[in-house]
Amino acid sequence: MSGYVLAIDQGTTSTRAIVFDDRFGIRGLGQEEFAQHFPRSGWVEHDPEDIWTSTVQTVRTALADASLSASDIAAIGITNQRETVVIWERDTGKPIHNAIVWQDRRTADICHKIASDGAEALITEKTGLVIDPYFSGTKIAWLLDHVDGARAKAEAGKLAFGTIDCFLLWRLTGGKVHATDTTNACRTQLFDISANQWDDELLRLLNVPAAILPEARDCDADFGICDGALFGANIPIRGMAGDQHAATLGQACFKPGMLKSTYGTGCFAVLNTGAERVPSANRLLTTIAYRLSGQTAFALEGSIFVAGAAVQWLRDGLKIVDRAERSGPMAGEADDTQDVVMVPAFTGLGAPWWNAEARGAIYGLTRKSGPNEIARAALEATCFQTADLLRAMKADWSGASDTILRVDGGMVASDWTMQRLADLLDAPVDRPVVLETTALGAAWIAGHAAGVWPGQEGFAERWHLERRFEPRMPAVERGRRLTLWEKAIQRTLAA
Ligand code: G3P
Repeated sequence: MSGYVLAIDQGTTSTRAIVFDDRFGIRGLGQEEFAQHFPRSGWVEHDPEDIWTSTVQTVRTALADASLSASDIAAIGITNQRETVVIWERDTGKPIHNAIVWQDRRTADICHKIASDGAEALITEKTGLVIDPYFSGTKIAWLLDHVDGARAKAEAGKLAFGTIDCFLLWRLTGGKVHATDTTNACRTQLFDISANQWDDELLRLLNVPAAILPEARDCDADFGICDGALFGANIPIRGMAGDQHAATLGQACFKPGMLKSTYGTGCFAVLNTGAERVPSANRLLTTIAYRLSGQTAFALEGSIFVAGAAVQWLRDGLKIVDRAERSGPMAGEADDTQDVVMVPAFTGLGAPWWNAEARGAIYGLTRKSGPNEIARAALEATCFQTADLLRAMKADWSGASDTILRVDGGMVASDWTMQRLADLLDAPVDRPVVLETTALGAAWIAGHAAGVWPGQEGFAERWHLERRFEPRMPAVERGRRLTLWEKAIQRTLAA
């Protein structure tokens, strides 16, 4: 059998399909951006049909780019933006509404109600999560209560819920398989991560009927066959993981104490804690890192909602950069005597603050502040937030004490940002040669499960460092900047 593996990486702003060869090199790639819908302040939606058509199209492009046909592909691995909710009719496969995206804050009131009823301890005990609109559970309930007749249909077993992985799997298998994997399931707030199953008490609490749920399988389970009519030949689907979990694998963070942070639309730092489920006293999430062949590895995760999205806003909203890549050089040219600080709380604040109502702010503007200073503030905000997460991880778990951060995602191409990150963390930052770690992680799960790619050790050997950024900012300056950030956060939370 060939060693070619296809990864489908369905992200928040674009869909990518990548064909890897058995030396983990990229053989072909397809990528498409799709529309973001913002119907109200704090609401974010995607059209599931856009997601589907971009998936089909990017797979075709990747195969053509690789000069391969579907019959050359040994297996497919799926990875995806997590928590985003789609509900569709089992009969027709038609979604009943736009997808409600992970960033969407419309269920803040439901979350306040659940929290004031005193349910957070139970939710955290079972799911490892905090109460926040970020997760899928309240979004499912919102859809069932706001789309005409949906709740009755759901209870009668006529509707199916899925995160994006599950929706794509349903479509790719021609409606034959309704399944997700545990890394996606564990972000719904309906899944007990110790028992590794959907939880009836949580379903009752969040008012979600069990009949709507998919089966939750291991990441390397058999997920069925991709219908030959789509790409010209049947292809086994052998891997699935939420994007941050796939990136953890793609960065070969297999051992407890290893940490990666991915800078995409948001930023998500995942620290492998192995078989140990570490509770957080600092408002991080305890989550499933991955589950392979019946073995769960747990993680502590820090989730930041806006990272690359701030750069996108500089480009599309403020229009002060023409290309995202320009933001790094602009930050490098910013006036050092100005202390402009941006809190990019466009959709509230995630870890460790968990404030759904907070909105973005820029502090310290003067008549001399211009595009360079604002670009620097946008990039630096991501570094400040990562520093908050790392501090919380170290406080939560001794195994994090001298870990080195492995980074990936679009923003890490900026040397300025990576140097500032190392400076503010006061710790080294490792940038690997292969930056497509999310897709590579999904491909590895599938390739290994299909028997054409090596196991963890063989895969980890091929992780190569491109550049290590060592901290070099004087401690006094670091302390001063972190204090500015802390003040900006407090003012934003108080506003
Ligand atoms: O939890 C949301 C996350 O999975 C989205 O990832 O890469 O689209 O920012 P990304």
